[in-house]
This record gives sequence, structure tokens and C-alpha cells, in this order.
Amino acid sequence: MLLGVNIDHVATLRNARGEYEPSVIEAAKICIDAGANGITAHLREDRRHIVDFDVFSLKNDLKCRLNLEMAATYEMQKIALDLLPDACCIVPEKREEVTTEGGLDVASNPEKIRKFIEPLIDAGIQVSLFIDPDRAQVSAASDIGVPFIELHTGAYSRAFGKTNENEEFAKLKQATSLAHLLGLQVNAGHGLNYKNVHRMHEIKGLQELNIGHSIISRSIFVGLDKAVIEMLNLVNKI
Ligand code: PXP
Repeated sequence: MLLGVNIDHVATLRNARGEYEPSVIEAAKICIDAGANGITAHLREDRRHIVDFDVFSLKNDLKCRLNLEMAATYEMQKIALDLLPDACCIVPEKREEVTTEGGLDVASNPEKIRKFIEPLIDAGIQVSLFIDPDRAQVSAASDIGVPFIELHTGAYSRAFGKTNENEEFAKLKQATSLAHLLGLQVNAGHGLNYKNVHRMHEIKGLQELNIGHSIISRSIFVGLDKAVIEMLNLVNKI
């Protein structure tokens, strides 16, 4: 199981002052040196945290696996084709949301999404679709020929320790089984933290977890390298 560290909130902090600190590239380097398998960054339409300069410097100055999260817009498609990240995760995006609230609705728009991802796949980018753990969405992702999905773990994370934890967890497990049956590779992420991540070991064959907010939050208290190592210790037990 691989760990991709999402460094968006290093940029959130930097942008709070509108200047240069903390450096996103320096943070990414610390994550990689601590053993993270890659860096994930979400270039949002409103550039509220990560900006174009960040993704190009991550790609050009830091030789690590880069996973670009982006909405299915032609502006983002052009940037991805210029940037050529190792991976691209297509996420839904609403301006008013604080973070990515739900998965992409592939089942309602399969043809539109298929056409959107085609040039990215042709360019050699490993494309994944960020979807809810739902049968119809998994099947639709398989139908359009995407190699990877990333399951939205937000509902499980919010339910952790509550009466509906098992129900939300079962959805992730079943969606992963179906995806594997259909030949898809499965990543997962959103809301995972030091307390709830351990249950991911009950889901066989997950490729990668993308985790951001909890690692960056913990880094304030223990330092970024230690925060990454602590998470890697939990993820590597999987
Ligand atoms: N995966 C995807 C597709 C996301 O959009 C996000 C949030 O940007 C994450 C993972 C990481 O979520 P968190 O910051 O809650 O760990």
C-alpha cells in the first residue's frame, strides 16, 4: 500500500499571508525524504491553495511521483497536458465547498467523462476518477475504460466511531471488490487520519491512500517528517 501526501494545506497556510512561506516544494521534499511514495496536489479553479507555479515546480524540481487532482474542465485538461503529471485524479468541484464533498457522478455523464479523459490517457497519464463507493459509479468507471478509481472515504471517516461506521465501511469494501472484479485498480482517500486509517487494512488490494489534512495538521505539533513517518507506519501495516 502506497501513501501519497496531499500538500494542499501547506499552500493554504502560505496563501493566508500571500507571500512565500511555508514553501510547498520544501514541504513536498520533506514528505518524500520521510518515505512518502508521492505527492498529491489539487489545483482548484479558484486557486485557493495550490497554484499553477506549485504544480510545475513540483514536477520539474522534485523528481517524485506527482498526482494532480483536478476538475473536468478544459482549462485543467490543458494544464495537465502541459504538465504531464504521473497521475491525474478527476474530482468534482464546487466553488462554495470547503473541500471535495462528494464523488464524481460518472454514471450520469459517462460519455462526457470518457471524452474528457481520452487525451490524458493518450498522453500516458495514469487517470483515476474520484467516486463514491457506489456500485453504479464503479460500473460506469469500468465501462468508460479508466484504469484507476479513487474511492471517497469521507463518509466512512465522518462515521468512524459512530453507529453507522460499519455501514459506511462496508460500502468501501464492496465497491473495492466490484472494482477488482471489473479489472480496476483502487486508491482511496479523503478524511483519513491517524485514528481511522487502520481499517483500510481490511480492504484487500488497495493500491494507494491519498492523505492530506490530518498529516499537515499533525505536522504543526511534531514536524512534517515525523507526521509522515507516523502515517507511513500505520499504512505500511496494511
Ligand atoms: N483524495 C482526493 C481526491 C481529494 O480531493 C482529497 C482532498 O483534496 C484527498 C484525497 C485528501 O483528503 P484529506 O485532506 O481529507 O486527507
